Amino acid sequence: MTDTQDILNQFKTVHKESKVDLTKKIKVGIIGTGWIANAHVKCYKQMKDVEITAAADLIPGKADEFFRQQGMEGIRTYPDHKSMLENEQLDAVSVCTYNSTHAVCTIDALEKGINVLLEKPMCVTLNEAVEICKAERRSGKVLSIGFQPRYDLNKQMIRKIVQSGELGKIYYIQTGGGRRRGIPTPFGTTFIEQKTAGIGAMGDIGCYSLDLVLHAIGYPKPLTVTGYTSDYFGRSKKYANKPEYAEIFGVEDFAAAFVRLEGGIILDFRIAWAMHIDTPGDTIIMGTEGALRIPSEAVVGSLDSEPLKVYHDIAGVQVETVIPLKTEKSNIIFMKVRDFVDAVKSGGPAPIPTSEILYNQAIIDGIIKSAKAGHELEITIPEIE
Ligand SMILES: NC(=O)c1ccc[n+]([C@@H]2O[C@H](COP(=O)([O-])OP(=O)(O)OC[C@H]3O[C@@H](n4cnc5c(N)ncnc54)[C@H](O)[C@@H]3O)[C@@H](O)[C@H]2O)c1
Repeated sequence: MTDTQDILNQFKTVHKESKVDLTKKIKVGIIGTGWIANAHVKCYKQMKDVEITAAADLIPGKADEFFRQQGMEGIRTYPDHKSMLENEQLDAVSVCTYNSTHAVCTIDALEKGINVLLEKPMCVTLNEAVEICKAERRSGKVLSIGFQPRYDLNKQMIRKIVQSGELGKIYYIQTGGGRRRGIPTPFGTTFIEQKTAGIGAMGDIGCYSLDLVLHAIGYPKPLTVTGYTSDYFGRSKKYANKPEYAEIFGVEDFAAAFVRLEGGIILDFRIAWAMHIDTPGDTIIMGTEGALRIPSEAVVGSLDSEPLKVYHDIAGVQVETVIPLKTEKSNIIFMKVRDFVDAVKSGGPAPIPTSEILYNQAIIDGIIKSAKAGHELEITIPEIE
Protein backbone atom coordinates (compact mmCIF):
# COMPACT_ATOMS: atom_id res chain seq x y z
CA MET A 1 0.00 0.00 0.00
CA THR A 2 1.29 3.52 -0.75
CA ASP A 3 1.92 6.12 1.97
CA THR A 4 -0.94 8.24 0.64
CA GLN A 5 -3.35 5.35 0.83
CA ASP A 6 -2.25 4.69 4.41
CA ILE A 7 -3.02 8.28 5.33
CA LEU A 8 -6.40 8.28 3.59
CA ASN A 9 -7.36 5.03 5.30
CA GLN A 10 -6.70 6.53 8.71
CA PHE A 11 -9.13 9.34 7.93
CA LYS A 12 -11.70 6.83 6.67
CA THR A 13 -11.78 5.07 10.05
CA VAL A 14 -12.12 8.21 12.11
CA HIS A 15 -14.40 10.12 9.81
CA LYS A 16 -17.10 7.51 9.37
CA GLU A 17 -19.63 9.77 11.08
CA SER A 18 -17.67 12.99 11.41
CA LYS A 19 -19.46 16.15 10.32
CA VAL A 20 -16.65 18.63 10.89
CA ASP A 21 -15.67 21.15 8.24
CA LEU A 22 -12.27 19.99 6.97
CA THR A 23 -11.69 23.26 5.11
CA LYS A 24 -11.46 25.26 8.36
CA LYS A 25 -7.97 25.24 9.86
CA ILE A 26 -7.17 25.23 13.55
CA LYS A 27 -3.89 26.51 15.04
CA VAL A 28 -2.13 24.09 17.36
CA GLY A 29 0.78 24.51 19.77
CA ILE A 30 2.94 21.77 21.29
CA ILE A 31 4.01 21.97 24.95
CA GLY A 32 7.01 19.73 25.59
CA THR A 33 8.94 18.45 22.57
CA GLY A 34 10.05 14.99 23.71
CA TRP A 35 9.21 11.48 22.52
CA ILE A 36 5.42 11.60 22.59
CA ALA A 37 5.33 15.08 21.03
CA ASN A 38 6.96 13.50 18.01
CA ALA A 39 3.99 11.11 17.68
CA HIS A 40 1.47 13.98 18.04
CA VAL A 41 3.25 16.13 15.45
CA LYS A 42 3.39 13.25 12.95
CA CYS A 43 -0.40 12.97 13.26
CA TYR A 44 -1.14 16.71 13.03
CA LYS A 45 1.12 16.96 9.97
CA GLN A 46 -1.19 14.60 8.10
CA MET A 47 -4.22 16.80 8.75
CA LYS A 48 -4.90 19.49 6.18
CA ASP A 49 -7.14 21.32 8.64
CA VAL A 50 -4.44 21.69 11.31
CA GLU A 51 -1.52 24.10 11.38
CA ILE A 52 1.19 23.72 14.02
CA THR A 53 2.27 27.29 14.66
CA ALA A 54 4.23 27.19 17.93
CA ALA A 55 5.93 25.00 20.49
CA ALA A 56 7.62 25.29 23.87
CA ASP A 57 10.23 23.32 25.76
CA LEU A 58 12.16 24.10 28.94
CA ILE A 59 15.42 22.74 27.53
CA PRO A 60 17.11 25.50 25.50
CA GLY A 61 17.20 24.71 21.77
CA LYS A 62 15.25 21.44 22.10
CA ALA A 63 12.08 22.66 20.38
CA ASP A 64 14.05 24.16 17.44
CA GLU A 65 16.02 20.95 16.99
CA PHE A 66 12.81 18.93 17.23
CA PHE A 67 11.24 20.76 14.27
CA ARG A 68 14.49 20.75 12.31
CA GLN A 69 14.44 16.96 12.57
CA GLN A 70 10.80 16.91 11.47
CA GLY A 71 11.72 19.02 8.43
CA MET A 72 9.27 21.71 9.57
CA GLU A 73 10.05 25.40 9.19
CA GLY A 74 8.53 28.61 10.56
CA ILE A 75 7.32 27.21 13.88
CA ARG A 76 7.76 29.83 16.62
CA THR A 77 9.43 28.32 19.68
CA TYR A 78 9.39 29.40 23.33
CA PRO A 79 11.39 28.57 26.48
CA ASP A 80 8.30 27.56 28.48
CA HIS A 81 4.58 27.00 28.05
CA LYS A 82 3.58 30.30 29.68
CA SER A 83 5.43 32.49 27.19
CA MET A 84 3.94 30.51 24.30
CA LEU A 85 0.41 30.90 25.68
CA GLU A 86 0.99 34.66 26.22
CA ASN A 87 2.25 35.32 22.70
CA GLU A 88 0.25 33.02 20.46
CA GLN A 89 -3.36 32.85 19.31
CA LEU A 90 -3.97 29.11 19.52
CA ASP A 91 -7.09 27.00 19.19
CA ALA A 92 -5.55 23.95 20.84
CA VAL A 93 -2.43 22.59 22.48
CA SER A 94 -1.01 19.13 22.99
CA VAL A 95 0.43 18.87 26.49
CA CYS A 96 3.32 16.44 26.00
CA THR A 97 5.39 17.31 29.06
CA TYR A 98 6.49 14.92 31.79
CA ASN A 99 3.84 14.11 34.40
CA SER A 100 4.74 16.72 37.00
CA THR A 101 3.94 19.66 34.69
CA HIS A 102 0.74 18.19 33.16
CA ALA A 103 -1.47 20.08 35.62
CA VAL A 104 0.12 23.54 35.37
CA CYS A 105 0.37 23.46 31.56
CA THR A 106 -3.23 22.23 31.17
CA ILE A 107 -4.71 24.70 33.64
CA ASP A 108 -2.81 27.64 32.13
CA ALA A 109 -3.94 26.71 28.61
CA LEU A 110 -7.58 26.26 29.64
CA GLU A 111 -7.49 29.61 31.42
CA LYS A 112 -6.42 31.21 28.15
CA GLY A 113 -9.48 29.62 26.50
CA ILE A 114 -7.46 26.99 24.64
CA ASN A 115 -8.59 23.40 24.07
CA VAL A 116 -6.20 20.74 25.41
CA LEU A 117 -5.16 17.24 24.44
CA LEU A 118 -3.36 16.10 27.59
CA GLU A 119 -1.08 13.08 27.57
CA LYS A 120 -1.64 10.29 30.08
CA PRO A 121 -1.46 9.95 33.03
CA MET A 122 -3.79 12.87 33.68
CA CYS A 123 -1.31 14.23 36.28
CA VAL A 124 0.42 13.11 39.49
CA THR A 125 -2.04 13.68 42.38
CA LEU A 126 -5.79 13.67 42.88
CA ASN A 127 -5.64 17.31 44.02
CA GLU A 128 -4.07 18.28 40.70
CA ALA A 129 -6.71 16.30 38.82
CA VAL A 130 -9.48 18.14 40.68
CA GLU A 131 -7.88 21.52 39.86
CA ILE A 132 -7.65 20.49 36.20
CA CYS A 133 -11.35 19.54 36.19
CA LYS A 134 -12.29 22.87 37.77
CA ALA A 135 -10.30 24.80 35.16
CA GLU A 136 -11.95 22.74 32.44
CA ARG A 137 -15.41 23.50 33.85
CA ARG A 138 -14.65 27.26 34.08
CA SER A 139 -13.27 27.40 30.54
CA GLY A 140 -15.96 25.42 28.75
CA LYS A 141 -13.21 24.13 26.46
CA VAL A 142 -12.47 20.58 25.29
CA LEU A 143 -10.00 18.64 27.42
CA SER A 144 -9.30 15.09 26.32
CA ILE A 145 -6.83 12.70 27.98
CA GLY A 146 -4.49 10.69 25.74
CA PHE A 147 -5.48 7.08 26.40
CA GLN A 148 -5.16 5.80 22.80
CA PRO A 149 -5.74 2.09 23.61
CA ARG A 150 -9.43 3.01 23.71
CA TYR A 151 -9.24 3.04 19.90
CA ASP A 152 -7.81 -0.48 19.76
CA LEU A 153 -10.36 -2.88 18.27
CA ASN A 154 -9.64 -5.60 20.84
CA LYS A 155 -10.01 -3.19 23.76
CA GLN A 156 -13.30 -2.09 22.24
CA MET A 157 -14.35 -5.75 22.00
CA ILE A 158 -13.62 -6.24 25.72
CA ARG A 159 -15.92 -3.34 26.56
CA LYS A 160 -18.58 -4.69 24.20
CA ILE A 161 -18.49 -8.10 25.88
CA VAL A 162 -18.91 -6.57 29.33
CA GLN A 163 -21.57 -4.11 28.20
CA SER A 164 -23.54 -6.87 26.42
CA GLY A 165 -24.49 -8.30 29.82
CA GLU A 166 -23.20 -11.79 28.92
CA LEU A 167 -21.09 -11.84 32.08
CA GLY A 168 -24.01 -10.83 34.33
CA LYS A 169 -23.26 -8.57 37.27
CA ILE A 170 -19.53 -7.88 37.53
CA TYR A 171 -18.18 -8.40 41.06
CA TYR A 172 -14.42 -9.00 40.78
CA ILE A 173 -11.69 -7.74 38.48
CA GLN A 174 -8.01 -8.54 38.40
CA THR A 175 -5.84 -6.35 36.19
CA GLY A 176 -2.39 -4.89 35.69
CA GLY A 177 0.69 -6.49 34.21
CA GLY A 178 4.12 -5.22 33.47
CA ARG A 179 7.58 -6.14 32.38
CA ARG A 180 10.14 -8.55 33.77
CA ARG A 181 12.71 -5.82 33.18
CA GLY A 182 11.64 -2.52 31.64
CA ILE A 183 12.23 0.66 33.59
CA PRO A 184 11.91 3.30 30.85
CA THR A 185 15.01 5.46 30.49
CA PRO A 186 15.53 5.52 26.73
CA PHE A 187 15.85 9.31 26.43
CA GLY A 188 16.95 10.29 29.91
CA THR A 189 15.59 10.12 33.41
CA THR A 190 12.31 12.04 33.26
CA PHE A 191 10.29 8.83 33.92
CA ILE A 192 12.22 7.87 37.05
CA GLU A 193 12.84 11.12 38.92
CA GLN A 194 10.30 12.29 41.47
CA LYS A 195 10.52 15.93 40.33
CA THR A 196 9.60 15.13 36.70
CA ALA A 197 7.58 11.88 36.83
CA GLY A 198 6.00 12.10 40.29
CA ILE A 199 4.68 8.55 39.82
CA GLY A 200 6.40 5.57 38.19
CA ALA A 201 5.01 2.30 36.80
CA MET A 202 1.46 3.37 37.62
CA GLY A 203 1.70 6.58 35.58
CA ASP A 204 3.50 4.90 32.70
CA ILE A 205 1.56 1.64 32.24
CA GLY A 206 -0.68 1.01 35.27
CA CYS A 207 -3.08 3.80 34.28
CA TYR A 208 -3.70 1.95 30.98
CA SER A 209 -4.68 -1.31 32.72
CA LEU A 210 -6.97 0.64 35.02
CA ASP A 211 -8.56 2.44 32.06
CA LEU A 212 -9.07 -0.83 30.20
CA VAL A 213 -11.21 -2.42 32.90
CA LEU A 214 -12.83 0.69 34.36
CA HIS A 215 -13.93 1.91 30.93
CA ALA A 216 -15.29 -1.58 30.16
CA ILE A 217 -17.47 -1.55 33.28
CA GLY A 218 -18.50 2.13 33.03
CA TYR A 219 -16.06 3.79 35.45
CA PRO A 220 -17.70 3.23 38.84
CA LYS A 221 -16.48 5.47 41.64
CA PRO A 222 -13.57 4.13 43.73
CA LEU A 223 -14.42 4.02 47.44
CA THR A 224 -11.49 2.56 49.39
CA VAL A 225 -7.98 1.38 48.66
CA THR A 226 -5.26 -0.72 50.26
CA GLY A 227 -2.11 0.06 48.34
CA TYR A 228 1.48 -1.11 48.27
CA THR A 229 4.42 0.30 46.33
CA SER A 230 8.09 -0.65 46.13
CA ASP A 231 11.27 0.42 44.34
CA TYR A 232 13.63 -2.52 44.84
CA PHE A 233 14.73 -2.69 41.19
CA GLY A 234 14.94 1.02 40.43
CA ARG A 235 17.05 1.75 43.49
CA SER A 236 19.36 -1.23 42.99
CA LYS A 237 22.69 -0.61 41.25
CA LYS A 238 22.52 -4.24 40.07
CA TYR A 239 19.19 -3.89 38.28
CA ALA A 240 18.96 -0.17 37.34
CA ASN A 241 19.64 0.54 33.66
CA LYS A 242 22.75 2.48 34.72
CA PRO A 243 24.23 2.32 38.23
CA GLU A 244 23.91 6.12 38.63
CA TYR A 245 20.16 5.90 37.91
CA ALA A 246 19.75 3.95 41.17
CA GLU A 247 20.76 7.11 43.07
CA ILE A 248 18.11 9.33 41.48
CA PHE A 249 15.27 6.79 41.20
CA GLY A 250 12.39 8.43 43.06
CA VAL A 251 9.17 6.65 42.04
CA GLU A 252 7.58 3.19 42.37
CA ASP A 253 8.69 0.34 40.08
CA PHE A 254 5.94 -1.94 41.44
CA ALA A 255 2.50 -1.31 42.88
CA ALA A 256 -0.33 -3.53 44.06
CA ALA A 257 -3.73 -2.64 45.41
CA PHE A 258 -7.10 -3.88 46.50
CA VAL A 259 -9.75 -1.31 45.58
CA ARG A 260 -13.46 -1.29 46.43
CA LEU A 261 -15.59 0.27 43.70
CA GLU A 262 -19.16 1.50 43.86
CA GLY A 263 -21.64 -1.27 43.03
CA GLY A 264 -19.96 -3.95 45.14
CA ILE A 265 -17.06 -4.50 42.75
CA ILE A 266 -13.55 -5.45 43.87
CA LEU A 267 -10.54 -4.43 41.80
CA ASP A 268 -7.33 -6.35 42.39
CA PHE A 269 -4.45 -4.53 40.68
CA ARG A 270 -0.72 -5.02 40.29
CA ILE A 271 1.76 -3.38 37.92
CA ALA A 272 5.51 -3.76 37.51
CA TRP A 273 8.30 -2.07 35.62
CA ALA A 274 10.57 -4.85 36.82
CA MET A 275 10.11 -8.16 38.65
CA HIS A 276 11.44 -11.71 38.82
CA ILE A 277 8.58 -13.25 36.87
CA ASP A 278 7.19 -12.80 33.36
CA THR A 279 3.79 -11.46 34.39
CA PRO A 280 1.84 -10.90 37.60
CA GLY A 281 -1.21 -12.37 35.86
CA ASP A 282 -3.84 -12.05 33.16
CA THR A 283 -6.69 -9.59 33.35
CA ILE A 284 -9.85 -11.31 34.58
CA ILE A 285 -13.34 -9.86 34.74
CA MET A 286 -15.68 -12.08 36.80
CA GLY A 287 -19.46 -11.80 36.65
CA THR A 288 -22.43 -13.77 37.97
CA GLU A 289 -23.07 -15.34 34.51
CA GLY A 290 -19.61 -15.59 33.04
CA ALA A 291 -15.98 -14.57 33.32
CA LEU A 292 -13.67 -13.02 30.73
CA ARG A 293 -9.95 -13.77 30.55
CA ILE A 294 -7.75 -11.26 28.73
CA PRO A 295 -4.22 -12.71 28.45
CA SER A 296 -1.56 -10.35 29.76
CA GLU A 297 0.01 -10.11 26.26
CA ALA A 298 -3.32 -8.90 24.85
CA VAL A 299 -3.52 -6.21 27.53
CA VAL A 300 -0.36 -4.64 26.09
CA GLY A 301 -1.69 -4.96 22.55
CA SER A 302 0.30 -7.97 21.28
CA LEU A 303 -1.45 -9.65 18.37
CA ASP A 304 0.51 -12.88 19.02
CA SER A 305 -1.38 -13.29 22.26
CA GLU A 306 -3.78 -16.12 23.08
CA PRO A 307 -7.36 -15.03 22.30
CA LEU A 308 -9.90 -13.59 24.70
CA LYS A 309 -11.97 -16.28 26.40
CA VAL A 310 -15.39 -16.17 28.02
CA TYR A 311 -16.06 -18.94 30.57
CA HIS A 312 -19.76 -19.64 31.11
CA ASP A 313 -22.42 -22.38 31.40
CA ILE A 314 -24.68 -23.53 28.60
CA ALA A 315 -27.55 -25.84 29.60
CA GLY A 316 -25.66 -26.79 32.74
CA VAL A 317 -22.41 -27.49 30.90
CA GLN A 318 -19.32 -25.43 31.69
CA VAL A 319 -17.96 -24.15 28.37
CA GLU A 320 -15.48 -21.64 27.01
CA THR A 321 -16.16 -19.32 24.13
CA VAL A 322 -13.06 -18.16 22.28
CA ILE A 323 -13.09 -14.64 20.91
CA PRO A 324 -10.26 -14.34 18.37
CA LEU A 325 -8.18 -11.20 18.50
CA LYS A 326 -8.75 -8.78 15.65
CA THR A 327 -5.51 -8.40 13.74
CA GLU A 328 -6.50 -5.43 11.56
CA LYS A 329 -3.84 -2.77 12.09
CA SER A 330 -4.91 0.72 13.06
CA ASN A 331 -3.00 3.84 14.02
CA ILE A 332 -4.53 4.41 17.42
CA ILE A 333 -2.44 7.50 18.23
CA PHE A 334 -3.66 9.11 15.01
CA MET A 335 -7.23 8.25 15.97
CA LYS A 336 -6.94 9.86 19.39
CA VAL A 337 -5.42 13.04 17.98
CA ARG A 338 -7.96 13.23 15.15
CA ASP A 339 -10.88 12.61 17.49
CA PHE A 340 -9.61 15.47 19.66
CA VAL A 341 -9.36 17.80 16.63
CA ASP A 342 -12.91 16.86 15.61
CA ALA A 343 -14.13 17.61 19.14
CA VAL A 344 -12.39 21.01 19.10
CA LYS A 345 -14.02 21.86 15.77
CA SER A 346 -17.46 20.71 16.81
CA GLY A 347 -17.27 22.19 20.34
CA GLY A 348 -17.08 18.85 22.17
CA PRO A 349 -17.71 16.65 24.01
CA ALA A 350 -14.20 15.44 24.82
CA PRO A 351 -13.62 11.93 23.42
CA ILE A 352 -11.79 10.76 26.57
CA PRO A 353 -13.34 12.82 29.34
CA THR A 354 -11.86 13.93 32.66
CA SER A 355 -15.06 12.81 34.41
CA GLU A 356 -13.80 9.23 33.89
CA ILE A 357 -10.05 9.70 34.14
CA LEU A 358 -10.46 11.56 37.45
CA TYR A 359 -11.33 8.16 39.01
CA ASN A 360 -8.26 6.56 37.42
CA GLN A 361 -6.11 9.26 39.02
CA ALA A 362 -7.95 8.92 42.34
CA ILE A 363 -7.02 5.22 42.49
CA ILE A 364 -3.33 5.90 41.76
CA ASP A 365 -3.30 8.70 44.32
CA GLY A 366 -5.03 6.42 46.85
CA ILE A 367 -2.45 3.66 46.29
CA ILE A 368 0.44 6.05 46.92
CA LYS A 369 -1.18 7.45 50.08
CA SER A 370 -2.27 4.06 51.43
CA ALA A 371 1.19 2.61 50.81
CA LYS A 372 2.69 5.46 52.84
CA ALA A 373 0.11 5.13 55.61
CA GLY A 374 0.42 1.33 55.72
CA HIS A 375 -3.33 0.68 55.86
CA GLU A 376 -6.60 0.96 53.93
CA LEU A 377 -7.85 4.47 53.16
CA GLU A 378 -11.12 5.96 51.99
CA ILE A 379 -10.94 7.69 48.62
CA THR A 380 -12.54 11.11 48.89
CA ILE A 381 -13.06 12.99 45.67
CA PRO A 382 -14.01 16.66 46.15
CA GLU A 383 -16.98 18.08 44.23
CA ILE A 384 -16.01 19.87 41.03
CA GLU A 385 -17.72 23.29 40.99
N1 LIG B 1 0.31 7.95 24.95
C1 LIG B 1 1.48 7.32 24.83
O1 LIG B 1 1.61 6.32 24.14
C2 LIG B 1 2.67 7.86 25.54
C3 LIG B 1 3.94 7.38 25.23
C4 LIG B 1 5.04 7.94 25.87
C5 LIG B 1 4.86 8.94 26.81
N2 LIG B 1 3.59 9.36 27.12
C6 LIG B 1 3.39 10.42 28.14
O2 LIG B 1 3.83 11.64 27.56
C7 LIG B 1 4.48 12.44 28.55
C8 LIG B 1 5.84 12.87 28.03
O3 LIG B 1 6.62 11.73 27.76
P1 LIG B 1 7.98 11.87 26.91
O4 LIG B 1 8.57 10.51 26.83
O5 LIG B 1 7.73 12.61 25.64
O6 LIG B 1 8.83 12.78 27.93
P2 LIG B 1 10.14 13.64 27.70
O7 LIG B 1 10.74 13.83 29.04
O8 LIG B 1 10.94 13.03 26.58
O9 LIG B 1 9.60 15.04 27.16
C9 LIG B 1 8.92 15.96 27.96
C10 LIG B 1 9.40 17.35 27.59
O10 LIG B 1 8.52 18.30 28.22
C11 LIG B 1 9.30 19.44 28.50
N3 LIG B 1 8.59 20.26 29.50
C12 LIG B 1 8.28 19.96 30.78
N4 LIG B 1 7.59 20.95 31.36
C13 LIG B 1 7.45 21.92 30.42
C14 LIG B 1 6.83 23.21 30.42
N5 LIG B 1 6.25 23.71 31.50
N6 LIG B 1 6.87 23.94 29.27
C15 LIG B 1 7.48 23.45 28.17
N7 LIG B 1 8.10 22.23 28.12
C16 LIG B 1 8.08 21.48 29.23
C17 LIG B 1 10.63 18.87 28.99
O11 LIG B 1 11.66 19.81 28.92
C18 LIG B 1 10.81 17.68 28.05
O12 LIG B 1 11.61 18.01 26.94
C19 LIG B 1 4.52 11.61 29.83
O13 LIG B 1 3.53 12.07 30.70
C20 LIG B 1 4.22 10.20 29.38
O14 LIG B 1 3.48 9.44 30.34
C21 LIG B 1 2.52 8.86 26.49
